[in-house]
Amino acid sequence: MAVSNVQIHDQVKVHYGSIATSGGSCCGGDCDCNSDSSALYESAALEGLHADVVNLSLGCGDPVAIAGLKPGETVLDLGSGGGIDCFLAARQVGTDGRVIGVDMTPAMLEKANANKDKMGVTNVEFRQGYIEALPVEDSSIDVLMSNCVINLSPDKPAVFSEAFRVLKPGGRISVSDIVTEGDFTEEMRADAAKWAACVTGAIDVETYTSMIAEAGFVSIEVVDKANAEKIVEHNPGMPYVYSARVTAVKPG
Ligand SMILES: C[S@@+](CC[C@H](N)C(=O)[O-])C[C@H]1O[C@@H](n2cnc3c(N)ncnc32)[C@H](O)[C@@H]1O
Repeated sequence: MAVSNVQIHDQVKVHYGSIATSGGSCCGGDCDCNSDSSALYESAALEGLHADVVNLSLGCGDPVAIAGLKPGETVLDLGSGGGIDCFLAARQVGTDGRVIGVDMTPAMLEKANANKDKMGVTNVEFRQGYIEALPVEDSSIDVLMSNCVINLSPDKPAVFSEAFRVLKPGGRISVSDIVTEGDFTEEMRADAAKWAACVTGAIDVETYTSMIAEAGFVSIEVVDKANAEKIVEHNPGMPYVYSARVTAVKPG
């Protein structure tokens, strides 16, 4: 039987809440997320980050590297986790810019705020909320990024529609996410634990980019796509799973 959106949110919250409270060094038994930040980021980018930030990296790519951030810009990170991408973006936008991270999991927000104190930054703010109903003003964001989160949403069209609402005209999207070639069966999608581990919530890359277009975005590009077998083990009967970096623009 299909699981409801509320059940998925609850399962995902439990999963990431337990990672946040267990110290974040490993995801535990049924985990397919990536806690090895050195595999995702250029080592120079990680220099100067507090060890607790680097050790709570649960992404599947590096959306900051392709975002083309400029000093003074306002950046929004969907599903900010322990905050690694927010702290990387904060350096690039400088003290005239700011970064807002949104996450629904209270324990993860606590970690992110503790990491903010350790980093001593003032241009980063973490807000509790759902990426399907963002606690962010209309047309207030220059760049929206996200790292391995939208695949976890049970309502992806709502996420892209909210992204469109909060971005300024001409604003950009830069996301890393798990996508597939082919689709999981309904039965596989009903496995909420695998969904929470960034596997069965992932959708075909063509469907993903169509949803972005339907929300109103243009210049949609899959910048690169890497086999995600190191993150998500491939099993027979499953579609191929990739980590993709996707960019798009809200028409000016
Ligand atoms: C795989 S982790 C990625 C964290 C971070 N982006 C990183 O790269 O380390 C997913 C994060 O997204 C949050 N999340 C998942 N679904 C969400 C939703 N629908 N609304 C808000 N936050 C969500 C989780 O609480 C978790 O912190």
